[in-house]
Amino acid sequence: MRSHKLFLSALLVLVLAFTSILFVAHAQDSSGAGLTIGFAQTGSESGWRTDFTNAMMSEAEAMGINLLFSDGQQKQENQIAALRSFIAQGVDAIILAPIVETGWDDVLQEAADAEIPVLIIDRGVTADPSLYITRVASDFVYEGRLAGAWLATATADRASCNVVELYGTVGSSPAIDRATGFADAIALFPQIQIIASQSGDFTRSGGKTVMESFLSSMDPSTICAVFAHNDDMLIGAIQAMEEAGITPAVDILTVSVDATNDELQMLIDGKANATVLLSPYMGGPAYQAIIDYLGGAELPPLIMVPSAMYFQDTAAAELANRTGG
Ligand code: AHR
Repeated sequence: MRSHKLFLSALLVLVLAFTSILFVAHAQDSSGAGLTIGFAQTGSESGWRTDFTNAMMSEAEAMGINLLFSDGQQKQENQIAALRSFIAQGVDAIILAPIVETGWDDVLQEAADAEIPVLIIDRGVTADPSLYITRVASDFVYEGRLAGAWLATATADRASCNVVELYGTVGSSPAIDRATGFADAIALFPQIQIIASQSGDFTRSGGKTVMESFLSSMDPSTICAVFAHNDDMLIGAIQAMEEAGITPAVDILTVSVDATNDELQMLIDGKANATVLLSPYMGGPAYQAIIDYLGGAELPPLIMVPSAMYFQDTAAAELANRTGG
């Protein structure tokens, strides 16, 4: 009887010990406690960028990560300097949101030489993929295709549709890829033509200036639609249209990318027609990928965040969902 009791107690101790080991292992798996990660952000050019920065910070806090933040202020040289400073500080990992695709090889090699893993987030780079552990991003080509497919459907009964394009930052992957995806989609509909394309640098003021120049350099009645590579440029363009006495979303159709709260409000107000979602919540998957990598896991080359599209009749529900309204 006594040996039976002893056996049960020993078993209980073993079970409890094993359970707590499992629990600790699991806790280490999904917690970044103790990790210091340097984040080199592009800048704060758009509403989406601000949402993304805020999400990166709150997701880091929730996971117990010490995030060192650097605002590149739209300059690649600032971002390169930030990476060098993170390397000098000996951070556990670096996250780079690159402003443009090219010019990263040397600094990525420096991080590799220092054995500091680098994760690329949002925009892509053309550097050797062995210099970074993975990229967490949306499919920008697909976003452009969604925008083009929407326009083809919305103008299916028209003999022609002339589009003006508000291009993002020159040399950045979302601008290159969204332009490609949109062109791919409308190539199937020869009545849709891009008649002008100019960079507004992903900013509200840039979008307004470019739209003003389009409206003054051509007969506005010949413009059927505006495709803006982001919501902020479109919101600037909407202002330009209104100031020129044009009714946006009626006289000139609109489609853009990001689905920020401000743009959802434009849809609700009937001033815009459609927007493609770029989720700002990429921090969670990025931090988890770094934790997994440091724990010895192999990562896929690309971790995708899903996309969606919102219209005048679906924007209110989405905005209420986000704001709890
Ligand atoms: O890289 C993503 C793009 O950058 C967003 O669509 C735009 O708003 C931002 O400036």
